[in-house]
Amino acid sequence: MKVFSTIQETTAYLGKLRNEGKSIGFVPTMGALHEGHLSLMRCAKKENDVLVVSIFVNPIQFNNAEDLKKYPRTLEGDIKKLETVQCNVLFAPDTDEMYPEKVDRQYDFGQLDKVMEGAFRPGHFNGVAIVVKKLFDIVQPDSAYFGEKDFQQLAIIKKLVEIENIPVQIVSCPIVREPDGLAMSSRNRLLNEKERKIAPFIYQTLQEAKRRRHHICANPLRQMIINRFEGNEHFRLEYFDIVDDKTLQPINAWNNEVGTVACVAVWLGDVRLIDNIRII
Ligand code: PAF
Repeated sequence: MKVFSTIQETTAYLGKLRNEGKSIGFVPTMGALHEGHLSLMRCAKKENDVLVVSIFVNPIQFNNAEDLKKYPRTLEGDIKKLETVQCNVLFAPDTDEMYPEKVDRQYDFGQLDKVMEGAFRPGHFNGVAIVVKKLFDIVQPDSAYFGEKDFQQLAIIKKLVEIENIPVQIVSCPIVREPDGLAMSSRNRLLNEKERKIAPFIYQTLQEAKRRRHHICANPLRQMIINRFEGNEHFRLEYFDIVDDKTLQPINAWNNEVGTVACVAVWLGDVRLIDNIRII
């Protein structure tokens, strides 16, 4: 595996591979790799000649300085994991390499970033879009792989590709869960032992929402699940919503023609966790 920290080395090396006609599958990450990331990488590896991974904790997508400070950074362990999936190229730049100058691009994602994560983390998706555009310019992948856990991020990235007219195929991959149902996330390692035991409540409650959809209308179900989270003293609910999977706007009635996803963000102690489940 080649490990590069500069844009120049990366573009030069990948340029050669591209000239040899090799297809490039790309998995952008912020490191602290887990089985969820590795499943994206296995998929990218299978579908392409070359697997490129980036590890960059992107400061401009954090709206909270404390969150950025405590985000896990585990480069050595990550490199070992990348070897197990036969990653060909790791691009791991520092902040000066990615942002030698201040960036002030403002994207217009319409209503997509006004709800859920976008409403609670102002500027987050703009920061994600800026870094993903820059990474796509550097790597120029044929396909890029993103997990469905970050459901709203996926919608934003598809929109970004449309706005910027980027010739890349966006591939979405299912959420990978721990045996007890907790969605895999780099943030899980910040949970203490007690919190880790409590955390599966999130997915259990989402499953309950899915089960009840045949027995109860959308609005009362939304309220019931909100009450469920708010009634659990261990969690602080940021949002729970049931949304159209394309527009991300709340739905008020079931419609089998409209893809529908229930999404949640909660705090468990000092750790913010998100998850979602497909309802329709
Ligand atoms: O999902 C993530 O890990 C990040 O938001 C991404 C896409 C790598 C951009 O920093």
